[in-house]
Amino acid sequence: MSEGKTVWVTGGSSGLGLHTARALREDGWRVIAGARSFDGSEGEDGILRLPLDVTDDESVRAFCRRAMEIAPPDALVQCAGMLVLGSCEETETEEFRRVMDTNYLGMVRMNREVLPIMRKQGGGKIVMFSSINGLLGIPFQSAYTASKHAIEGYAECLALEGKPFGIQVMLVEPGDHRSGSDKYRPHAAAMTAESPYADAYKSATERIRRDETNGSDPDVLGRKVARILDRKRIPFRKRIASPDQHLAVYIHRFLGARINGVVLRKYYIRKNK
Ligand SMILES: NC(=O)c1ccc[n+]([C@@H]2O[C@H](COP(=O)([O-])OP(=O)(O)OC[C@H]3O[C@@H](n4cnc5c(N)ncnc54)[C@H](OP(=O)(O)O)[C@@H]3O)[C@@H](O)[C@H]2O)c1
Repeated sequence: MSEGKTVWVTGGSSGLGLHTARALREDGWRVIAGARSFDGSEGEDGILRLPLDVTDDESVRAFCRRAMEIAPPDALVQCAGMLVLGSCEETETEEFRRVMDTNYLGMVRMNREVLPIMRKQGGGKIVMFSSINGLLGIPFQSAYTASKHAIEGYAECLALEGKPFGIQVMLVEPGDHRSGSDKYRPHAAAMTAESPYADAYKSATERIRRDETNGSDPDVLGRKVARILDRKRIPFRKRIASPDQHLAVYIHRFLGARINGVVLRKYYIRKNK
């Protein structure tokens, strides 16, 4: 139990962020959660919900100021995220920018505020939600995949820099979980029936949706993250995924690009050669 310790959680209004915030609260943490839809109230579950837009420097600063008035973070858990589904060719620059700004720069902004606090207090834990997509590419998720790869590289740098100050970093790499909301998964504007990728896109997005709907239990993930955060030392990487998703990472890493390509194309793009 982490009675008396404080955790700040971004993206705490939905999906894995919400489940993780609840699990941490049940484990005794004081939880201060942030999301754009929050109004500053405390729920019956004892979680304080403050407004936060991770794409906006001033909103990030205001969230941290208000949270600091309650308690400094022993841990920061970053779950805020979204994706835009679309082909590499047709996804607009602005659509790529939105995903990078939320998923990657959102974490950078939060860390820039939290690092000086943790450094001065002699340590802390920073948890960043990456994804299996931080390890391998999936068709029509290039903006999201790129943002999660960016997080993976950035986290390695952060862990090296933070260690002398007692700051520990952990990447959580979830596979599919049945938690995410469709409103955070818009289609790129160009992905209409006229797209040259329309058939492949339909096949891949149906598969993606099916995998999420039948995905793992988000409560289990929340409890796992809470249990790990309770430890004195946390691992740098924690992949929380089904056996086939572990296998996909293994194939990607050890069997080379050609075999990986055949497997993934067969899995996601059945109708197209
Ligand atoms: N679900 C999965 O299967 C899965 C798999 C791998 C990785 N992940 C990762 O886990 C995290 C949660 O994903 P999810 O699918 O479970 O949840 P989700 O239902 O997609 O929820 C997204 C959360 O992010 C918040 N958010 C979005 N834009 C934001 C912004 N600009 N500022 C602050 N908060 C923002 C949303 O809150 P507001 O709209 O209220 O701001 C919401 O709480 C993400 O990082 C995702 O990449 C999920």
